[in-house]
Amino acid sequence: MAGNRTFTMIKPDAVESKNIGNILQMITDAGFSIKAMKLTQLTVEQAKKFYEVHSERPFYMELVEYMTSGPIVAAILEKDNAMADFRTLIGATDPAEAAPNTIRAKYAESKAKNAVHGSDSDENAAIECAFHFSDAEIVG
Ligand code: CMP
Repeated sequence: MAGNRTFTMIKPDAVESKNIGNILQMITDAGFSIKAMKLTQLTVEQAKKFYEVHSERPFYMELVEYMTSGPIVAAILEKDNAMADFRTLIGATDPAEAAPNTIRAKYAESKAKNAVHGSDSDENAAIECAFHFSDAEIVG
């Protein structure tokens, strides 16, 4: 069985610091298959919609500004237990609190510029995959 899916973005800070390759290596080494992937730059409208759940938070506009500040890599990942295992691989939101050898411990700059996104539930994973990819863009 192929497993289930989660959604990730390599965020503008990690693209800027030339860590796309290092992060994708960690993802595939951890057993995830990439089912869809693209380099893109979010519009303000897209970022606001994607982070709508955070719209009441004080950092919302900072988050939208940051996420639209440069290119990101969006991808759909597949593995057994994909959502939870990917959250383990990326580590805590704040890199200062992220476990050693997690993506954020290695590559994130700060709580805001934290290198990668990972869906926080299977329900949100499905919504986020569909937000960024059509069925025709997903392999297998
Ligand atoms: P993520 O968990 O992927 O999705 C929500 C994002 O909001 C989070 O990553 C951070 O990039 C950002 N974020 C969370 N907390 C803060 C904060 N206190 N200040 C600025 N940005 C934050």
